Amino acid sequence: MSSQIVLKVNKLCFSYPDKKNVLTDISFEMNGGERIALIGPNGSGKTTLFLLLCGILSPASGGIAVNGKDIKPNQFNTDISYMFQSPDDQLFTATVFDDVAFGPINEGLPEGEVKDRVKSALERVKCHELIDKSPHHLSGGEKRMVALATILSMHPEIMLLDEPTSDLDLLNRRNIITLFASLQKTMIISSHDLEFLLETCNRALIIDNGKIVEDGNIVDLLSDEGLMKSHHMEKPHSLYPHTHKRAIPGAPRDH
Ligand SMILES: Nc1ncnc2c1ncn2[C@@H]1O[C@H](COP(=O)(O)OP(=O)(O)O)[C@@H](O)[C@H]1O
Ligand SMILES: [Mg+2]
Repeated sequence: MSSQIVLKVNKLCFSYPDKKNVLTDISFEMNGGERIALIGPNGSGKTTLFLLLCGILSPASGGIAVNGKDIKPNQFNTDISYMFQSPDDQLFTATVFDDVAFGPINEGLPEGEVKDRVKSALERVKCHELIDKSPHHLSGGEKRMVALATILSMHPEIMLLDEPTSDLDLLNRRNIITLFASLQKTMIISSHDLEFLLETCNRALIIDNGKIVEDGNIVDLLSDEGLMKSHHMEKPHSLYPHTHKRAIPGAPRDH
């Protein structure tokens, strides 16, 4: 795992035509292998930041560089891949195979290698049996796992994951935690599932109203009840010291 800087974000600012100052002066650096949790209330700018980082949106000012190369908007780029908040934005072809093959084909890989990439990405998310299905016929959780495979098949240096556990049952949520632990990739993950972030990330950025207000160790930041409350979030349950004894009088005893 490299400890070199792989991502450099410098004074990024962004406005939508009908919504000004959605992001203001966002700056941070990231080392290879780091896992950053991007947390903040609804509407704080998490998805917008991801769309800028992967080049779908273009900043009003400021810059983004991956391994020293500037991200140019609207250029196909396998260094940094984004898993959309909604899988329906990610899956747009007739079959699961075509969706997962889309990245490797655009990279210009030969047919045999494209097939290998698709097979191994779908196996990693335990969805190989869906390969010939239409993405429209999948359940929400299946769509989410296939959307993840479309990112994995590109072998990106940096993965941007926007609320990856929404729609997942507990088994698939656990599968994703295990998968991320085995990947050793650089990742930024946004989620309201703070327990999931505690299991997968080592650092947290708190974003509120388009500004990064905290950047530090994830356990330190999420343990701070006052800080969490002031940004409309709750300190995760697992960070409170607690016993397994029941507090309700008359409730059955645990054995
Ligand atoms: N396409 C858009 N046009 C105008 N405003 C938008 C658009 N997308 C998001 N916004 C606004 O930008 C702000 C940040 O949104 P978003 O990045 O989706 O936040 P988050 O992902 O943290 O919930 C919100 O106020 C949202 O309403
Ligand atoms: Mg969002």
